[in-house]
Amino acid sequence: MSDDTIQLGMKPIEIWPGNLEPEVCGDSTIHKITFTDTREYHPRLIAKILELEENRRLRKRYFRGACGTKIHHLDKWASTEAELITARARALFRKVLECEHAVVDLSWANVYRNGDYCLPHSHLRSTASIVYCLDPGDEAADDSQSGRFCFVDPRLRNCCQHQEGCMTTPFFPGMAAGTMLIFPSQLVHTVNPYAGMRPRITLSWNINKHALPGAALPADAGGEPQI
Ligand SMILES: [Fe+2]
Repeated sequence: MSDDTIQLGMKPIEIWPGNLEPEVCGDSTIHKITFTDTREYHPRLIAKILELEENRRLRKRYFRGACGTKIHHLDKWASTEAELITARARALFRKVLECEHAVVDLSWANVYRNGDYCLPHSHLRSTASIVYCLDPGDEAADDSQSGRFCFVDPRLRNCCQHQEGCMTTPFFPGMAAGTMLIFPSQLVHTVNPYAGMRPRITLSWNINKHALPGAALPADAGGEPQI
């Protein structure tokens, strides 16, 4: 296996498909890319996450608005598919930030079930955050914004279309299965209540150029959970 591929079963998969480049998405600090070879790894990765979701010791469910059920630490899942998508997230960080190193401070999956949502928040301890859509879930006939990820940050021009500094317009970057988004970790974002029945599943990473001291997850250190 070369450094550029990861072996999934009998098949070598390129970490970074040569024809793909991230695109600026709504703001010069946000970039987006959509991988098209998802059938090679989504089914097994989704099955793995749904299996982990059943594990009471590994899953974390803080409260309804805390982004569904979380399963942390992709690197501990013993999943080659999780390894592949993490390698892609780190490669995206290096490309967008034009740097040599990308160190994951914390990674996790979010499984949203009907009624789950995510209150507005930023991510701690990181330069950039990445979110990847494994399954956007069902569309809701009576709620076109159901389960949609958006930025709600007055520092983004897109969010302040009527008056500078006044957040009046959530910015929806659009997330389909296979979409990976990178953004500055401080940008405030949220996920609307999910009205569908099929699990809506995303992955997230907080990444820095260098490793940080201390525990990435306050709960791991006995502190308060964060969303
Ligand atoms: Fe988040």
